[in-house]
Amino acid sequence: MMHKDVEKILYTEEELRSRVKELGAQITTDYAGREPLLVSVLRGSYIFMADLTRAIGLNVTVDFMVVSSYGAGTVSSGQVEIKKDLSDSIEGRDLIIVEDILDSGNTLYYLMEVLRARKPASIRICTLMDKPERRSQPITADYCGFTIPDAFIVGYGLDYDGKYRNLPYVGILKPSVYKKP
Ligand code: IMP
Ligand code: MG
Repeated sequence: MMHKDVEKILYTEEELRSRVKELGAQITTDYAGREPLLVSVLRGSYIFMADLTRAIGLNVTVDFMVVSSYGAGTVSSGQVEIKKDLSDSIEGRDLIIVEDILDSGNTLYYLMEVLRARKPASIRICTLMDKPERRSQPITADYCGFTIPDAFIVGYGLDYDGKYRNLPYVGILKPSVYKKP
């Protein structure tokens, strides 16, 4: 079972739920009178996106992008590839990029460049998790759920090698799962 590969639970289902509600309330206040476009960076942010959008009390629209930078490892390759682009134009829109985790910053650094060139009115970043220790690009989140130490985490959408996304909590993956002897 997937639970046995988790070394330690970092955030329970309850803690995630209440923090996501707070983020939604903050966005509701900050964007009052506007209609932000939430861009989910798939696949890791799909569960966060679903909960976050329901915690926002404004008209919002949503769009999705598939980006990959990892392959099957636990360290960013630095090579970012858009595998599925947005469906609609973002010109003049107030964008909120919804990410699962901000790590090296390579993914968002690249993505911000691509999206800025399409002339949105504004762009902000909302990430569920932030690992600032590992940053190699000058990227900071405008909204952040939790700041975490440098460990590889899974659950609530976050994966290792495609798995563990359906864990309802966020936990640290046992290194024995990815460090073969
Ligand atoms: P960055 O480009 O290094 O900032 O990495 C961003 C992406 O790497 C995230 O969107 C995640 O998909 C993935 N990632 C980084 N750290 C973790 C982790 O601890 N667990 C699962 N995925 C991670
Ligand atoms: Mg990922």
